[in-house]
Amino acid sequence: MTATIKANDQCFCGSGRKFKRCHKTSFDPIRPGTVGPLREVPDGIDLPPYVTEGEVIRRPEPAVKSPDVIERMRRTAADAAKVLALTGAAAEPGVTTDELDRICHEATVGLGAYPSPRLYGEPPFPKSICSSLNEVICHGIPDDRELRDGDILNLDVTIFREGVHGDTNRTFLIGEVDPESKRLVRVTLECLERAIETVKPGAPFNGIGSAIQSHAEAAGFGVVRAFVGHGIGEQFHTDIHIPHYYEPRLTTTMEPGMTFTIEPMITVGAYDHQVWDDGWTAVTIDRKRTAQFEHTILVTDDGAEVLTAWPD
Ligand code: MF3
Ligand code: CO
Ligand code: CO
Repeated sequence: MTATIKANDQCFCGSGRKFKRCHKTSFDPIRPGTVGPLREVPDGIDLPPYVTEGEVIRRPEPAVKSPDVIERMRRTAADAAKVLALTGAAAEPGVTTDELDRICHEATVGLGAYPSPRLYGEPPFPKSICSSLNEVICHGIPDDRELRDGDILNLDVTIFREGVHGDTNRTFLIGEVDPESKRLVRVTLECLERAIETVKPGAPFNGIGSAIQSHAEAAGFGVVRAFVGHGIGEQFHTDIHIPHYYEPRLTTTMEPGMTFTIEPMITVGAYDHQVWDDGWTAVTIDRKRTAQFEHTILVTDDGAEVLTAWPD
C-alpha cells in the first residue's frame, strides 16, 4: 500500500512544516502544457530583421554604441521595464502563463514596440514573453498552466522599438512561498546588484561572474554556466558573452558606451540543465528550483547606468 501524503500534512522530512511548503515542489515537476496560437502584431509596428528574414542573421555591430543608439536604447529599455512591471503585477494564483503573455503582448504593441521573443531563433519562439516556473531555468513558453500558491515565476520581457532591443527579467513570488525559495530569489537579486556594482570603464568583464559566483556559493547555491549575459543593441544578442561564473581568461575590459545584459541564473541544487522537446524550455537536471534577474546595462564614464530600471 502506498500512503498518500496530502498538501497540508506534515512533511516526511521531519522539518515540521506542511508538505506543500517543504518537499512537495520537488515531487511536482512542471510539465508541458498547451501553447496557444501566435499573437498578431498590428500594422505599423517595425519588425526586427529575424521576423522578415525568417532566421537570425548575425551582423557586425560595434560594442561601443553611438550617442544616437544609446538614446534610442534608453527609451526602448525603459519601456521594457514598464511592460515587465505591469505583467508581473498580474501574476497570482489561478492566472495562466498564457494570460501573462497576452498582457505583455498587448502592452508592448500598445507602446508601439515589437515583443522580441516572438519568432526569434530556431525553432521560432512561439510566444511574446518567456515565463519560467520553479525548476525552469529560462526560456519557458507560456501555456495553459495556472499559477499555484507557492510557485516562483520568472518573466523575461524583451521589446524592440526604434531599431533597438531592451531586455529585462525578474522572478516573482506567487502567493505564499517557502522560506528556501524566498532566500533563493533574494540572493539571486543580490547577485545581479553586486555584479552591476563592478561595472565601470577599465573593469574586466570577469569581475561580473566573480561577484555573482562568490555571493551565490557563499549562500550554498549554484551558478548556471550554459546561459550567459550578452551584448545587446540593434541586435537581441551580439557576440559579447558575459558568464555569471568566474572565468579567469575573460580579461577584456569595459568601455564607456558598451551595452550588455547581466542575467544570473542561480540554483538551489545542481547547475546543469536539460532542454525539453520544445527546443526552448531549460530545466535544472535535478528539478530543483532556480531564479533569475536581468537588466540591460550601459557603461558610463564612471560606472553603470541601468537602462531597464524597474519603475516600482
Ligand atoms: N530574453 C532572453 C535573454 O535574456 C532571450 C530569450 S530568447 C527567446 O537573453 F527566444 F526565448 F525569447
Ligand atoms: Co538577455
Ligand atoms: Co531576457
